[in-house]
Amino acid sequence: MKKLIYTIIITIPALLISCGGVPEKSKTAAKEKLEFSVAEVLEMVSKENDITRTLYTKAIVGAGKKQGLKFDEDWQKEDVEAGPLPALFLRGIANDIRKSEVPLGLYLGSDFPINKANKFEGKQGELFKQIKKDRKPQHFYDEDQKIYTAMFADVAGAGACVSCHNKHEQTTKDDWKLGDVMGATTWQYPTDSLSYDATIAVLKAYRNGTVAVYKDYLAEIAAFKSSDKPVVGEKWPSAGGKYLPSPEVFLDSVRELASAETMAVLLK
Ligand code: HEC
Repeated sequence: MKKLIYTIIITIPALLISCGGVPEKSKTAAKEKLEFSVAEVLEMVSKENDITRTLYTKAIVGAGKKQGLKFDEDWQKEDVEAGPLPALFLRGIANDIRKSEVPLGLYLGSDFPINKANKFEGKQGELFKQIKKDRKPQHFYDEDQKIYTAMFADVAGAGACVSCHNKHEQTTKDDWKLGDVMGATTWQYPTDSLSYDATIAVLKAYRNGTVAVYKDYLAEIAAFKSSDKPVVGEKWPSAGGKYLPSPEVFLDSVRELASAETMAVLLK
């Protein structure tokens, strides 16, 4: 009898747990099904980055300079009335991602950097040599940092890249040419595969970062004391004046340029 009571005491809660618990558990398991390899996700976000970076460099920095807008590495200093250089735009995005809950790392490096802190070392330096040869992405597991890593060529896609780097007073190389591999973006993520939700979170973190930096730039403009303030709205500098697109208009263009490719992978 005693044994029977024990059995009931043990069995009933076990049944309750299994009845109530199992469907719940399988629900989360389905949601967390790992759909994408880390390499696929980093390729996707790096394409978004290429598009955003080129759009910013050509349509904002390149076209904006022609209309008298200024861009400076010290853009955030109190007395400097200018926007962020492309590399600092990217660093701003990386910093914003770092503050989010998404464990995605992003860096821009080179073998001949303007800023010493951006020089590739060790394994990344080795792999960068290969990237310069074949321009193909490099995916590897970084044993030291224990993190999945991917590197993608950063190409001089606009005349502004070359002329600014060649003329910069701290440059370590003054004969960059259009189309050169000037550096690479390095991306890091801690797991080897991601759920659909985690993948969307990575893409969102990148776009949120873009909007955050762009808004910082507009806030800087709002505080200009001696320079003309560009008109922020629907127009771009290419319309022939000191115009800047609003964050929404800028992001709409990124979406338009990036979405087809990104969706093709997401809906594979
Ligand atoms: C108006 C000047 C300017 C323009 C335009 C510019 N850069 Fe840079 N770039 C810089 C500066 C300054 C740095 C260093 C920023 C820092 O302190 O990390 C930098 C950093 C970099 C780095 C990291 C290695 C290094 O040199 O420190 C790469 C790679 C790079 N830029 C590539 C490009 C590419 C590709 C473009 C065009 C899409 C571009 N840059 C446009 C000025 C410029």
